[in-house]
Amino acid sequence: MSRKKIIAANWKMYKTPEQSRQFMDEFVPLVAGHTRDEIVICPPFVDIAAVVEKARGTNVEVGGQNLYWEKEGAFTAEVSGEMLVGAECKWVIIGHSERRQYFGETDDTVNRRLKVAAEAGLSPIVCVGEVKEEREAGVTGDVLRRQCSRAFAGISARKAAKMAVAYEPVWAIGTGLTATPEMANEAHQLIRQEAANVFGEEFAQQLRILYGGSVKPENANQLLSQEEIDGALVGGASLKADSFSKIVKW
Ligand code: 13P
Repeated sequence: MSRKKIIAANWKMYKTPEQSRQFMDEFVPLVAGHTRDEIVICPPFVDIAAVVEKARGTNVEVGGQNLYWEKEGAFTAEVSGEMLVGAECKWVIIGHSERRQYFGETDDTVNRRLKVAAEAGLSPIVCVGEVKEEREAGVTGDVLRRQCSRAFAGISARKAAKMAVAYEPVWAIGTGLTATPEMANEAHQLIRQEAANVFGEEFAQQLRILYGGSVKPENANQLLSQEEIDGALVGGASLKADSFSKIVKW
């Protein structure tokens, strides 16, 4: 079973609209004609329009970094699935560890966001991953199983069809430390098993599981050539057109 890989940029809180346009002017020609992998950029909300405009008619797709579970209402500063779709986003990141660490995201709120993202027709990228203490205590498997089973609860396989999962060990994010291919493979197998338990074997075989955590041009090939690694979610190294294009072309 070959799964088309997804190389996704998570820009986090970086770049103004003007800096986003400059990135796209440089990046789009560097990856023109690249069809082996899906290319996704998730900019801050205020940059989405700029990136979408430059991505139109190219092989680059756009996503949000979060969404809220209500359709509309008095929820200052929140953004709905319908708004992201209206802004021409195809993707949305859900449950990034920074949201869990700093903004009170829980397995339950991840589940709520996943439900509405699927409802809106977006392709969600659900982030899971253990912190350093959990890895050291040998409970990585339990953590990943819990995060996945709670995130997936109450969602049908049909609804979840466009979902991807990103395994991002928190100790590897922005630290320069990377999970070894063996560690990533083991975690990805576990996530795939959990997806099989919830959605069935056929679904699990098609599910794309990305790796994130200090992916760089220098280690992209080693990670992405693993059978179990179906893509990358890239933070720091996605901010420069040159380095992100090298990762796309792993
Ligand atoms: P870095 O690539 O900067 O380690 O960040 C990974 C990440 O959090 C992507 O979502």
